[in-house]
Amino acid sequence: MERVYNFSAGPSALPVEVLEKAASELVNYGDAGMSVMEMSHRSDAFKVILADAKALYKELMGVPDNYEILFLQGGGSMQFAMVAMNLMNKNHKSDYILTGNWAKKAYAEAARYGDAKAIASSADKTFTYIPKVTPEMMRKDADYVYICANNTIYGTRFKPDGLPQTGNIPLIADMSSNILSEVYDVSKFGLIFAGAQKNMGPAGVCAVIIRKDLIGNAMDITPTMLNYKTHADNDSCFNTPPCYSIYICKLVYEWVKKQGGVPAMEAINKEKAAKLYDYLDNSKMFHGTVVPEDRSLMNVPFVTGNKDLDAQFVKESKAAGLENLKGHRTVGGMRASIYNAMPMAGVEALIDFMKKFEMENK
Ligand SMILES: Cc1ncc(COP(=O)(O)O)c(C=O)c1O
Repeated sequence: MERVYNFSAGPSALPVEVLEKAASELVNYGDAGMSVMEMSHRSDAFKVILADAKALYKELMGVPDNYEILFLQGGGSMQFAMVAMNLMNKNHKSDYILTGNWAKKAYAEAARYGDAKAIASSADKTFTYIPKVTPEMMRKDADYVYICANNTIYGTRFKPDGLPQTGNIPLIADMSSNILSEVYDVSKFGLIFAGAQKNMGPAGVCAVIIRKDLIGNAMDITPTMLNYKTHADNDSCFNTPPCYSIYICKLVYEWVKKQGGVPAMEAINKEKAAKLYDYLDNSKMFHGTVVPEDRSLMNVPFVTGNKDLDAQFVKESKAAGLENLKGHRTVGGMRASIYNAMPMAGVEALIDFMKKFEMENK
């Protein structure tokens, strides 16, 4: 069977070049005589893979020297607890901006460990916009302010120039679904985490960028494995790290660098997203669900307004080689996730199919 255009929200499509490179090295990596999957994480060969992955990620993200990069397990969801247990330990207060399910889950987790407060929410309009947040809304003694930078389910995003102005309060961001997709200034954040399985690699690893002064202040109850210090002190090798996932991330970083780095990805992503949104804005059948100014570049939800027609679209698009366009179960309709690895040709194929569907079902 031919490869399809895979619009999955996660795990998601990886660049074909990355898969082919991995395939060519699967059985025997370099002159190691074994697969990366079979190597000791203490071996010289794996140490080089880890160091390269770290250096490339640092370079691509423009990470300043006063930040540490960690490759952890437990996915994005583990960070909901880790952030709270490690960072909410000065004044035991944290402020959350609720822009969808993932921010709500992070908030609920933090509320188990201290005084977490929802300072803004877009729940009133089914999370179809990003709420405006002014500095007065934040508690001056909050240990951090938390955002989900890109809302995978609802398709909204905090733009790089639209981040909450938190002053001296560390800003924490979940970038699981928009990491490496456009340029964010890392120095504006205390911590950025991203589960790899959408835009960075396979499931199993979560990359954390943390300002060094925020390491080492975890609550006493924090399990050793959930303490950032444990992993920072041991270069992400306190225990066996997700070696193969880290290796694939390294290949993805090399691919992103070859495309011209994050600025080049941003330009392509903006072009891809603009094409799709432009079609949606002019279609008589399909409608985007998000206010234009807060639209995600990565996740594009849309509806016809008719549940039966939505279901028919999902079924027929799958038969046409456009996979995973069904919307999240909590939202319905459709969602096209167009991460870095989705080529322009995939977006064009989707638009062509939508046009045809619209003609046939007038
Ligand atoms: C923005 C965001 N944060 C967190 C998560 C949870 O990630 P994980 O499944 O790795 O725990 C997801 C998963 O889709 C997500 O989209």
